[in-house]
Amino acid sequence: MVSVLFVCLGNICRSPMAEAIFRDLVKKEGLEGKIKIDSAGTGDWHIGHPPHQGTRDILKKYQVSDEGILARQIVSEDLGQFDYIIGMDDQNITNIQKLGDIPSHVKVKRLMDFVEDSTQKEVPDPYYTGKFDEVYELVTAGCSRLLEEIKTELSHEGK
Ligand code: 4NP
Repeated sequence: MVSVLFVCLGNICRSPMAEAIFRDLVKKEGLEGKIKIDSAGTGDWHIGHPPHQGTRDILKKYQVSDEGILARQIVSEDLGQFDYIIGMDDQNITNIQKLGDIPSHVKVKRLMDFVEDSTQKEVPDPYYTGKFDEVYELVTAGCSRLLEEIKTELSHEGK
């Protein structure tokens, strides 16, 4: 089992979109039983809320389910419970690191770090830009590459 936690600021726009898209990709590969997926926000404003309407609309457009996704805040215990903790921007990474010591095996990275040829290394916050289409494209590219890395890991380690 490999576990992935997507993190943004509010957990209503970018990280729930990443959770839904990654869950969809994993399902299409038949790897549901091998990869645990979750998302969280560094802020507490939207705890218990469903994804933002902009995220819900774009997921619906591409027939990606957001069923069961509700916002929660990341807690220090999360740091030891995931293999990948994936932030959307630099501020998310800083906030994750402030939560405490991160076990050495845990990979804390930005989603766009997995897209080596991308010049854009942060996923811009659509809560402020309104550009949910742009976020969908970036998150899909990042999630696809992340899944390639995890598939390689699963095949090498017999997980
Ligand atoms: P997200 O966007 O981090 O992509 O979920 C935001 C959502 C809400 C707020 C900020 C960012 N907020 O300040 O409430």
